[in-house]
Amino acid sequence: MDHKVTIVGSGNVGATAAQRIVERELADVVMLDILSNVAMGKALDILESAPILGFNATIEGGGDYAMSAGSDICILTAGLVRRPGVSREDLVVKNAEIVRGAVEQLIRRSPDTILLIVTNPLDAMCEVARRASGFPRERVLGMAGVLDASRMRYFIAHELGVSVEDVDALVLGGHGDTMLALPRLATVNGVPLPQLLRPERIQAIVERTREGAAEIMNYYKQGAAYYTPSAAVVDMVAAILKNKRKILPCSAYLQGEYGIHDTFVGVPCKLGRRGVEEVVELPLDDTERAQLLHAAETVQKLLTRL
Ligand code: LAC
Repeated sequence: MDHKVTIVGSGNVGATAAQRIVERELADVVMLDILSNVAMGKALDILESAPILGFNATIEGGGDYAMSAGSDICILTAGLVRRPGVSREDLVVKNAEIVRGAVEQLIRRSPDTILLIVTNPLDAMCEVARRASGFPRERVLGMAGVLDASRMRYFIAHELGVSVEDVDALVLGGHGDTMLALPRLATVNGVPLPQLLRPERIQAIVERTREGAAEIMNYYKQGAAYYTPSAAVVDMVAAILKNKRKILPCSAYLQGEYGIHDTFVGVPCKLGRRGVEEVVELPLDDTERAQLLHAAETVQKLLTRL
């Protein structure tokens, strides 16, 4: 393949993202884990499906960062995972150490890479990666909004009995309690959602979206969602590697946009080969703007724990 992607973490999110990337032949993948045997086993298991599925991308698993050299994108999924009763914020100290350590290893071998952060608490871990790398904001971003928006789109499609392909929705803010779903900007085949659903049904969908991660965790008991998180990662990877200039909600480092300074929070971003090529500023009303500001302040407060 023309591109190389390293994934740090061969847990459910990392391995499923690896699988989706090679199946779509987006890039060759290196999957690293401190449990190198797990990374090696999953890589081989995925590769052995290539003759059936007909993909030619390769995947190599292991534990040595030397394997990551020359990666176009490095995806960080490693970290302690959420379990029922454990908030994303509880993970901050331990996962900050993991992210910092991985970033230091990665950037030495891939100084021009784009860092795509998945580890929770997402927005705070993006800042940890930014500080550890010293990279410009174009090359450090986090996956959250695509996942949250996909959940919301699914709930809307399900409620209305229409194709998921007809539904668009936008979720900004933090990946957690400060999530800012914007139903007034959701559309069904171009028709604004508020024209199609009663306010109380819309509110129920917004709340279910905010609790989307917990809903899945309560089923799994041990561990968190991974099918949709990995799909969201791959959407972002494809936008970058194919230079699509696709506008996706991402955690990005704001430098004055939305009146927010030097903080990662979820906003629409134009993703292309250079990474975050533009932060798109939507006209928000006063309440929405205040909510986004609150999300940013929550991230800042969390970072003071480090
Ligand atoms: C979720 C977790 C992984 O949203 O953050 O499912």
